[in-house]
Amino acid sequence: MEDVIIGVVTIAAVLFFILFQRTKTKRYKVPPGPKALPVIGNLHQLQNLNPQRFFYGWAKKYGPIFSYKIGSKTMVVISSAELTKELLKTQDVNFSDRPLHRGQEFMSYGRRDMAFHHYTPYYRDIRKMGMNHLFSPTRVATFKHVREEEARRMMDKIGVAADNSNAVDISELMLTFTNSVVCRQAFGKKYNEDGEEMKRFIKILYGSQSVFGKVFFSDFFPFTGYVLDDLTRLTAYMKECFERQDTYLQEIVDETLDPNRVKPETDSMIDLLMEIYRDQPFASEFTLENVKAVVLDIVVAGTDTAAAAVVWGMTYLMKYPHVMKKAQAEVREYMRERGLTFVTEDDVKNLPYFRALVKETLRIEPVIPLLVPRRCSQNTKIAGYDIPAGTTVNVNAWAVSRDEKEWGPNADEFRPERFFEKDVDFKGTDYEFIPFGSGRRMCPGMRLGSAMLEVPYANLLYKFDFKLPNGMKPDEINMDVMTGLAMHKAEHLMLVPEKVNV
Ligand code: HEM
Repeated sequence: MEDVIIGVVTIAAVLFFILFQRTKTKRYKVPPGPKALPVIGNLHQLQNLNPQRFFYGWAKKYGPIFSYKIGSKTMVVISSAELTKELLKTQDVNFSDRPLHRGQEFMSYGRRDMAFHHYTPYYRDIRKMGMNHLFSPTRVATFKHVREEEARRMMDKIGVAADNSNAVDISELMLTFTNSVVCRQAFGKKYNEDGEEMKRFIKILYGSQSVFGKVFFSDFFPFTGYVLDDLTRLTAYMKECFERQDTYLQEIVDETLDPNRVKPETDSMIDLLMEIYRDQPFASEFTLENVKAVVLDIVVAGTDTAAAAVVWGMTYLMKYPHVMKKAQAEVREYMRERGLTFVTEDDVKNLPYFRALVKETLRIEPVIPLLVPRRCSQNTKIAGYDIPAGTTVNVNAWAVSRDEKEWGPNADEFRPERFFEKDVDFKGTDYEFIPFGSGRRMCPGMRLGSAMLEVPYANLLYKFDFKLPNGMKPDEINMDVMTGLAMHKAEHLMLVPEKVNV
């Protein structure tokens, strides 16, 4: 008898739950989207490669705002410039929070960083400090010599490969460049590129980056608790990566605390953060955990992005040789006229076609194509659809870069000239071109990021001609994108360099 009662009560509870869910969702006019399955939602339809292109396909079918489900969570994706403006300008405050992500929370010491912190007074304090100190124009200029030295080193390596007619791995070289620059800017550390310390740093960095990009079951199926994360070893992997990351960052912090330490010639970013730790200028306490969390942001956000951008740029240039020729001609003529041998950050300012090329590179493949997701704080409406508080919203910057209303029908064509016809910049006020995002959570490292990519990019064009290896044709280049926060070209770009007499 007891079993029968339990059975009846369970069925009644399930029916009540289904009915309640139905009436609850009926109250909302949710953005259109693909039909979701019970429990898993649209999980079975999502792809690991090229999510930005996949979502672009859904936007073509369902419109510039659509929704889908993963488990119990509703996700919304925006794909037009007009709605991006609505989200990141008109309703920016309401969308300035970040959604829950177990991995990001854990790795960032419980969101003590900037990128994943909730939109709180503490967040506004560190953001302001970041804009005024860490990423200010003066601070970016302080590290100019670092970026130029490391770019020279990269060119020398390519020069040796060219002398031996060997192919070079542009993806690997660019990552080595950005890793070296970031270690010097963030910690004042100059590692030997092939040494054990650098290898250790890279292993730790890749581990942290991969946890930031992973999908945790507990975020989308909260009723399962951590069981699925544990069973799939996600929890164990996350903890291992955190352990390595924390040991490393703690060593760096301890070194800066050592009274006998020889200070680097230029204050590194961790020195500035340690000053804040000593002065405690914020309303809430800025602990050593906060120092580690913010420095982690700098390292994670600063390495991948610039490297991925230059790799995408060189890939498109191989597919569009007339653009390559025009960019090379501009930089080579400029350098020849002045008798210079290395393109510096100051020279780049005088190269209008190259600057348009940088913009076109970031337009055609924005390296964080779905930006960093936002969380809606209060119930609202966008384009007449209800967006309940707690909804995760992504802007598909890759799709926005192809918004026909703004870019015309040939937006897939790689054509820097479009930036002479259309006066737009990536500073966050032109909503059809948002590779660094926009609004209150826009990338604070924009200036630093563009400085990091311009010098190696310009010198590659100045110093070398390139061929694809083994008779490969440009249309055989694999254009797949590897999923992560910053999205790299999945297959490394291999090119055969040839020195040019300029
Ligand atoms: C080409 C280089 C870079 C690109 C394309 C890029 C792009 C982006 C994008 C799209 C976002 C999300 C913005 C949003 O949610 O609206 C972001 C956030 C962020 N970026 Fe960058 N970034 C670059 C370089 C850097 C560098 C060099 C740093 C620091 C050293 C940096 C630090 C950050 C931080 C801390 C955030 C989080 C901001 C917040 O939530 O308040 N980025 N970046």
